[in-house]
Amino acid sequence: MFKVNDNYLKLPGSYLFSTVAKKQRAFEAANPDKPVIRLSIGDVTQPLAPAIVEALHRAVDEMGNPETFRGYAPDLGYEFLRNAIAQNDYQALGCHIAPDEIFVSDGAKCDSGNIQEIFSVDNKIAVCDPVYPVYIDTNVMAGRTGTYDVTHGTWSDVIYMPCHAGNNFAPELPQETPDIIYLCFPNNPTGATITKAQLQEWVDYANRTGAVIIYDAAYEAYISEADVPHTIFACEGARTCAMELRSFSKNAGFTGVRLGFTVIPKELKCKGVTLHSLWARRHGTKYNGAPYIVQKAGEAVYSAEGKIQLAAQVNYYMENARIIKDGLEGAGYEVSGGVNAPYIWLKTPHNMTSWEFFDYLLERANVVGTPGSGFGPSGEGYLRLTAFGTRESTVAAVERIKHM
Ligand SMILES: Cc1ncc(COP(=O)(O)O)c(C=O)c1O
Repeated sequence: MFKVNDNYLKLPGSYLFSTVAKKQRAFEAANPDKPVIRLSIGDVTQPLAPAIVEALHRAVDEMGNPETFRGYAPDLGYEFLRNAIAQNDYQALGCHIAPDEIFVSDGAKCDSGNIQEIFSVDNKIAVCDPVYPVYIDTNVMAGRTGTYDVTHGTWSDVIYMPCHAGNNFAPELPQETPDIIYLCFPNNPTGATITKAQLQEWVDYANRTGAVIIYDAAYEAYISEADVPHTIFACEGARTCAMELRSFSKNAGFTGVRLGFTVIPKELKCKGVTLHSLWARRHGTKYNGAPYIVQKAGEAVYSAEGKIQLAAQVNYYMENARIIKDGLEGAGYEVSGGVNAPYIWLKTPHNMTSWEFFDYLLERANVVGTPGSGFGPSGEGYLRLTAFGTRESTVAAVERIKHM
């Protein structure tokens, strides 16, 4: 008789987004005259930029021509894209990353979930609380997290690093030493970020303790302040303790196109074994490469026109963030985020729980957010709003919240 991986059975139901959707549907069914505005999902709404669309069309034409047709892509990504990434995202910032340290993939969700495979099951992970749920759930699936405490919503073998208003939503170095540290800045869900000096402390800590940092920089394009690092490799010593995950989803609207990459420096080693070699082996064995067409679209992200068009797209979303933040602050709410990230972290008024305020907002303003408690215990008492809507719906949502 076969046996299932019973680590999967330990996972609490994917309660957050399904409950949000269920509540929205029930409200809409009961109130067909009240259109709901969703500021809950981290998905983009602007169409692909013209430079990207043109690159896709050109690549499709190449694939339809016997002289330029391509089959399987190289496992680790085409040279043209890895060169463009190394030059534009790293070397232009003075960071030493070589093209062959870049692994092209179909997105940061897969990479952030799959990367734990190259580590022993004995490793202890540390995560920010609240957190992007993929980091924890994929470690649960691997059997690395111990038992679940339903009352507190925590795992016995995970180190939680609370992020709250008291520490500006920046984690403090943990009491117990972890083996693997997940950091995500600019942060989903809080929209917070940390300075280069703060990130340097984490790099120094990881090098001192022999930990590895998995740094998720999916929202790098939204950084607007000067002392916020665009990559962990801007920190001295990061090449011996860190890897970085990147996505084309939020900077270029590729949520439906799918493209991302992971950077693993060759100096990142455990007892002489490079993580680069293990991830290369994993990629080569389990992955057949992101499509040529999509990698050509990714290359266009770094073209002169692409850069201009995508900066305009990011500005569009960040103007939405400003509208939400200023509007809600003006109405007396306590809000953070929205300056270096497309997420606004709203403190619920009158000590309401996240779900109580979610219901209140849906009933009174017909606006849907994401309850902060769904991202971890320290998210209780918060709601996440996203700036990824259209201008029209964002302005309308803020007006409704102001007047409820
Ligand atoms: C922190 C973080 N990492 C990764 C991802 C996923 O990115 P991708 O679309 O490249 O899979 C998201 C998506 O919301 C995210 O918030």
